[in-house]
Amino acid sequence: MVEFQGQRLRDASHVVVFTGAGVSAESGIPTFRDALTGLWERFDPAVLATADAFRKDPALVWGWYEWRRSKVLAAKPNSAHLAIAELARLVTRLTVITQNVDDLHERAGCHGVIHLHGSLHSPRCFACARPFEGATDQLNDHEDGRRIEPPRCRHCNGKVRPGVVWFGESLPEHAWREALAAVRDCDLLLSVGTSGLVQPAAEIPRIAREHGAVVVHVNLQRESVHGEREFSLIGKAAEILPRLLTQANK
Ligand code: OAD
Repeated sequence: MVEFQGQRLRDASHVVVFTGAGVSAESGIPTFRDALTGLWERFDPAVLATADAFRKDPALVWGWYEWRRSKVLAAKPNSAHLAIAELARLVTRLTVITQNVDDLHERAGCHGVIHLHGSLHSPRCFACARPFEGATDQLNDHEDGRRIEPPRCRHCNGKVRPGVVWFGESLPEHAWREALAAVRDCDLLLSVGTSGLVQPAAEIPRIAREHGAVVVHVNLQRESVHGEREFSLIGKAAEILPRLLTQANK
């Protein structure tokens, strides 16, 4: 079997890097589905990550997301985020599409990151959907289910919700449209640290493949591949991506 070599990244005219929680794991941000440490192994998404959950108990939901936001604020980009930002400077064109709600790609130096599942850093009103620009000064740095009343919208006094996509909600339309255009246009897609279980984002590697792109998966587990233009690299993103970058630099 031919191993994928990073030199091929430099030859591509448009590289898409599609990331999931695994890319931030080495920064200390928990993933969702990894055994023992995954958020959905320890918390019930039905109680914390749906619009109904927020209606029922806004302080519980807001407190939990403020705990997650405090973890992100304390974290730093790892060598996978940094390698992706460096790669963007090396190749002709690179688009980052992420399912992550942290800002570690941006803090590593990436621009124009497409956030398919929203962001912990862009809260908005649950009632009128206007962005909330005030300070949310009661960060929760405890995992213990501490409740925090969400702030109120300056315009309509509605409750402010986290700017993330919850189960049962559609992806932000503009982000999804932009992502699809990039994926259809790219000739090489790196899919990094995602279980590929959440639709429609999970379709991205398949769409790239069907449009003729080379697809490279980076994950702790082997991914199933279709044909000679798809590769599975097994290991930590923070180790594999810097290695690919070194190869691309040769
Ligand atoms: P998951 O937790 O489902 O998957 C993380 C993947 O990263 C797994 O396949 C792990 O094997 C892999 N992984 C873990 N550590 C890694 C490392 N250091 N290097 C490389 N790979 C590693 O997370 P996502 O696929 O991002 O959605 O989950 C998709 C969506 O499900 C999330 O965006 C979130 C969640 O519900 C919403 O909140 C809407």
